[in-house]
Amino acid sequence: MTVTPAPLDVGAGTVLKLQGISKRFGAVQALKNIELDVRAGEVMALVGDNGAGKSTLVKTIAGVYTADDGTMVFDGREVRVGSPAEAQQLGIATVFQDLALCDNLDVVANLYLGRELTAPSARGRLLDEVEMERQSWELLRQLSAKIPSVRIPVASLSGGQRQTVAIARSLLGKPKVVMLDEPTAALGVAQTAEVLNLVERLRERGLAVILISHNMADVMAVADRVAVLRLGRNNGVFVVSETRTQDIIAAITGATDNAVSERAARRSREEGSAS
Ligand SMILES: Nc1ncnc2c1ncn2[C@@H]1O[C@H](COP(=O)(O)OP(=O)(O)OP(=O)(O)O)[C@@H](O)[C@H]1O
Ligand SMILES: [Mg+2]
Repeated sequence: MTVTPAPLDVGAGTVLKLQGISKRFGAVQALKNIELDVRAGEVMALVGDNGAGKSTLVKTIAGVYTADDGTMVFDGREVRVGSPAEAQQLGIATVFQDLALCDNLDVVANLYLGRELTAPSARGRLLDEVEMERQSWELLRQLSAKIPSVRIPVASLSGGQRQTVAIARSLLGKPKVVMLDEPTAALGVAQTAEVLNLVERLRERGLAVILISHNMADVMAVADRVAVLRLGRNNGVFVVSETRTQDIIAAITGATDNAVSERAARRSREEGSAS
């Protein structure tokens, strides 16, 4: 990880700013010249059709992939993130779609996996189960999470509750940016509402949230702005309160490009018939 010493002026409240990010996999140009900025206390939805580059972008920010080109400014400084661990250390947390929970372990063990709390004892330092359990309850309470017990294996939780545990775990590193890849994709109506409610709690805590979703109703319900990717490129950033769903869908599907090319085709046909 490299962090430039000099702070950069990227605009008030901007936590993360990407400039000219490109990523190629062999012959596939997955991302081309992507620009994105996300502010503290904002939910930025990232939408686009299958293969548009959403997951690639999230993985690039998260340090899973290295961009071929472009810069990333985090918290006012240009950074190069070499691994997911480095991203986490900086304050960029990611909840990947598979959640990566350990089904056989309970909620507390999952939350503290790899960062267990210990306390001194006569036999040396031992796991501080009491403190981990207390902090788990406190975190889940702050998130208004409905988890029946923190001492049951996560295998017995519902999809929404598992998503909640994965998001809560991402917060333990005190991140400034949280990225959620399709958090409601496999959920029913009530569970989706619970997770969207949780996203609002994250915003209240002043986090910058990047939310990937295919569900426009979810996006319109919870996002402040929407960035559209199309074929690996930016295709517009919309302020949700000022935009109709259909305009965002048009940017996703490229209907607006078609409208332009259809107009051009019509014009050339008209010119052809006029001559
Ligand atoms: N590891 C990889 N190796 C080769 N090509 C890849 C790899 N990951 C992604 N791609 C390609 O890059 C493009 C963008 O894929 P990406 O998974 O980022 O899209 P997405 O927007 O997340 O799509 P979806 O909505 O289906 O999840 C696609 O053409 C995909 O096939
Ligand atoms: Mg994806």
